Amino acid sequence: MKRKLTLLASAACLMTAATASKADPSAGQATFEAQDCVACHYTEGPARETTIEDQLAKTGPELWYAGDKFVAEWLTAWLADPQPIRPMQFNSLTDENPGDHPALDAGDAADVSEFLMTLTSGVVEEGVVRVKKNAKGRQIFTKKMPCSGCHQYEGRGGDIMGGRTGPSLVDAGARLNPDWILAYLQQPETFKPVKMMPVFVGLLSDKDMANVASYVANFGR
Ligand code: HEC
Ligand code: HEC
Repeated sequence: MKRKLTLLASAACLMTAATASKADPSAGQATFEAQDCVACHYTEGPARETTIEDQLAKTGPELWYAGDKFVAEWLTAWLADPQPIRPMQFNSLTDENPGDHPALDAGDAADVSEFLMTLTSGVVEEGVVRVKKNAKGRQIFTKKMPCSGCHQYEGRGGDIMGGRTGPSLVDAGARLNPDWILAYLQQPETFKPVKMMPVFVGLLSDKDMANVASYVANFGR
């Protein structure tokens, strides 16, 4: 009897080891709920914000299209060691980001990342944007359009330049899916019906949106 129990226990150990080494989206969803991530983030679309006040009052960014937006490896690493992305507390022009986002241990971070990567909008076409040093995109970002007035990015000499209203785009290439950046510019009504970023539909052609997405997705690569 004792032997049988030991065998059962070691089988259970082996099973735990096997599951621990492989990230599990349903365990990730359970952790997301148990750790109260749901208090600040929603994970089911469509976008809920209907006014700019809703947008500014949000406690955390919506995550219902996380699987479209993020690079999986970046997401896993960030959940275990979160660093500020938005220099200001959300889109506020006055409050600094306190940089106190809750962190997960490595196993939970892998599971939660796996879960979040299952969340997609269904509208992002994959494989459209080719990431490269895009001279046209650079011109749009730094000169033709006011992007750099609101977003930090790494200048040629490695200096951090740009404005602080929007999320930092330093190392955006490690964080954001290039095809999502394009979709975000093309379909703001799907992802952010209201926000403090201007709509570029009608100002930039689809081709130039792809150029600027390609340029941004090259940051930090
Ligand atoms: C008290 C509110 C709050 C709680 C609780 C919270 N978050 Fe956040 N979360 C935020 C805020 C605010 C940001 C934006 C941080 C930044 O830009 O630097 C954020 C950012 C994120 C991001 C990046 C989103 C993006 O679009 O840039 C992810 C992913 C995330 N949180 C996941 C989680 C997970 C997983 C948990 C649970 C362990 C959690 N959050 C708990 C408020 C919260
Ligand atoms: C007036 C300020 C402003 C300008 C100009 C602006 N943005 Fe933004 N941008 C924002 C804000 C604010 C957000 C965040 C919205 C939110 O998460 O609620 C944002 C979000 C983004 C994101 C998503 C980043 C993330 O992590 O969620 C990308 C990519 C982006 N902008 C690229 C651009 C590009 C490219 C241009 C120029 C064509 C541009 N922005 C012009 C303010 C601006």
